[in-house]
Amino acid sequence: MKVIKTIEEMRRWSRSTRARGETIGFVPTMGYLHEGHLRLIREAKKHADRLVVSIYVNPTQFGPNEDFERYPRDFARDESLCKQEGVDAVFYPSNEEMYRPFHKTYVITEDLSEIMCGVSRPTHFRGVTTIVAKLFNIVQPDFAVFGQKDAQQAVIIKRMVEDLNFPVKIIVAPIVRESDGLAMSSRNKYLNSRQRKEATVLYRSLQLAEKEYSGGNHDPESIKQKMRRLIERESGGKIDYIEMVDAETLGAPRPGEGDILVALAVYFNSTRLIDNTILKIR
Ligand code: PAF
Repeated sequence: MKVIKTIEEMRRWSRSTRARGETIGFVPTMGYLHEGHLRLIREAKKHADRLVVSIYVNPTQFGPNEDFERYPRDFARDESLCKQEGVDAVFYPSNEEMYRPFHKTYVITEDLSEIMCGVSRPTHFRGVTTIVAKLFNIVQPDFAVFGQKDAQQAVIIKRMVEDLNFPVKIIVAPIVRESDGLAMSSRNKYLNSRQRKEATVLYRSLQLAEKEYSGGNHDPESIKQKMRRLIERESGGKIDYIEMVDAETLGAPRPGEGDILVALAVYFNSTRLIDNTILKIR
């Protein structure tokens, strides 16, 4: 497995891989890999001849008071996990390599980036779309795998790829959960033991939504209210949002038509956790 630190070398690797007629799969990550990332890697391996994983904590997707500095990092461990999973190349650039002085260009997906997580994190998706566009231009993959846990991110990336004509197929892999239902996330590490226990209520609230919906309650306000009550009763978490939206457009649900995304974000002190489920219409 090659560890590549410069854009020039990454491009050279991709060019020679393509010249051999091999396809390239790509899993972009911010490192501190857990089982959720490993499933994305395994999914990508099913489709591609060669696999690139990027490990880069992207500063532009963190707001001024967010956790960029303390975001967990452990490159040695990430490298050995990638090796074990049969990754061909790890792209591990520095900030200086990715953002040259006088960087002025950003990619913005309008509207979709301003709702849900975009309300409390107004510059977050601008940072995500910018870095993913840069990574696609550098790695030149045939397809890329993202996790359903970041449901809004996945919808936004698909929109960007279509709008800007990137020749990259986007694959979205299912959420991976701990045995008690908590969605896997690098940020779970911030939770103390009480918060970790309480955070399981997020998944239970999504299961409640599924039960209500399949039992015939199709009123989003009533479902969200029940979820809210459950979370407030069983945890000290502070709800940022609970939304029910069309799973493809993030607009208002289309009764009887598209699947519905039930998504939430909840703060446990300063740790903000997100999770979601899809209510299948058919
Ligand atoms: O989902 C993530 O880990 C990040 O948002 C991504 C896609 C790697 C961009 O930095």
